Amino acid sequence: MKNIAVIGAGYVGLVSGAGLSDFGNQVLCADIDENKIGSLKQGNIPIFEPGLKEIVDRNIESNRLSFTCDIRKAIRDSEVIFIAVGTPEGKNGEADLSAVFSVAETIGNNLSAYKVICTKSTVPIGTGEKIISIIKKNKNNDIDFDYVSNPEFLREGAAVRDFLLPNRIVLGTTCEKAIQIMQDVYRPLYINETPIIYTNIPTAEMIKYANNAFLALKLSYINEIANLCEAVGADVHIVAKAMGNDGRISSKFLHPGPGFGGSCFPKDTKALLSLSEKLNEPMNTVAATITTNDSQKIRMVDKLFNLMGNEIKGKTIAVLGLSFKQMTDDVRESASIEIILGILDKGGSVKAYDPVASDNMRKYFPDIEYYSNWQDTVKDADAVAIMTEWHEFRGLDLNELKKLLKAPVLLDARNVLSEKDLQNLGFIFDNVGRKSTR
Ligand SMILES: NC(=O)c1ccc[n+]([C@@H]2O[C@H](COP(=O)([O-])OP(=O)(O)OC[C@H]3O[C@@H](n4cnc5c(N)ncnc54)[C@H](O)[C@@H]3O)[C@@H](O)[C@H]2O)c1
Repeated sequence: MKNIAVIGAGYVGLVSGAGLSDFGNQVLCADIDENKIGSLKQGNIPIFEPGLKEIVDRNIESNRLSFTCDIRKAIRDSEVIFIAVGTPEGKNGEADLSAVFSVAETIGNNLSAYKVICTKSTVPIGTGEKIISIIKKNKNNDIDFDYVSNPEFLREGAAVRDFLLPNRIVLGTTCEKAIQIMQDVYRPLYINETPIIYTNIPTAEMIKYANNAFLALKLSYINEIANLCEAVGADVHIVAKAMGNDGRISSKFLHPGPGFGGSCFPKDTKALLSLSEKLNEPMNTVAATITTNDSQKIRMVDKLFNLMGNEIKGKTIAVLGLSFKQMTDDVRESASIEIILGILDKGGSVKAYDPVASDNMRKYFPDIEYYSNWQDTVKDADAVAIMTEWHEFRGLDLNELKKLLKAPVLLDARNVLSEKDLQNLGFIFDNVGRKSTR
């Protein structure tokens, strides 16, 4: 059992803090966002993440998990410090590392005893060395520390489970003492024989980018196949299923859609590309992944406009689904942002609904109308676009939908509805990569 500080209590920090306390560690989650910490202290979870409240409550109850805005104290009181702050897209696609470096500085200034500094944030290859040198520069004593790169692979929507039962843990350090401490931190997983990859810092940092870029590449690949399927009269779902049966490929991340979003794939692919360009080691596959994804999002806007005969001005479009995927309230880089922008740009208006993500989307579009159910959203709309694969959209009552809409025009950007049913009811519709069945 270790005393741990997790700096940054967002999607990754909060889930990691709760998970690490569930493993038996004493965890203090620290964040500069006073509202977030205030609400956590009152027992409220500031994000939507299935199962998170239960695990947070359980560990608060057992006195293993607490929250603070006092970053310095969190550092001084802990033996292991996890850096889990955001690394958003910065200029020229590079990762903005200002939060990570600012935490490193604070760690340096508050290094009161030996500590292991462990980075969970996704940081470009070479950042670990920079963090080490910032800490060294800012500490004015001869107290030792070790550094571990420990990238996180959890998926929003399944984050708690992913953290408690990961496919693997990556530990980037060559220091034996730090390895022993990290094995203690992850004791239940270590005992369960969860695969642990021991490697050096740059390799650990590279694993995270290589992993994310590959998944993004798979998505862009199947989206391009889907687009070609439309042109040749093939059904992308059957293509993807057959491809997935090939053990060398696997069926995961072969679902066509409106282009990937979220807080990871878009920025991580850009950061990897930017690094490769800087080092003059071209990554053409990653460049193509990004371009394909951007154009897939635009393609969805074009599909909707084509369905509407390109008459958008003065029309109202219902957008169902705002988060970048189901089971999360995260709207960062969501394909629905692109479609809302497109509609507003052409003089249309938007009625929007998402089971959990409306509040987050309000920060991007404060002036569109938000509703609390799909029926009110589609009522009297000139068209509807389904942008997120929430289960409730799979089960839409199409008869009711048709009755409520002013015109039966529908874009199914996630292929959640039956084409046959839409056809039988006389919808004017489009989806992704399935023109063959019409
Ligand atoms: N979200 C994911 O699914 C996911 C998965 C794996 C890895 N990651 C990586 O983990 C990192 C965090 O991502 P996230 O989605 O949790 O971000 P987030 O935006 O949800 O949370 C980041 C938190 O850090 C806090 N913060 C910023 N600067 C700080 C500072 N100086 N001191 C203390 N706290 C500070 C913010 O207030 C915020 O609460 C990123 O590098 C991301 O790429 C994210």
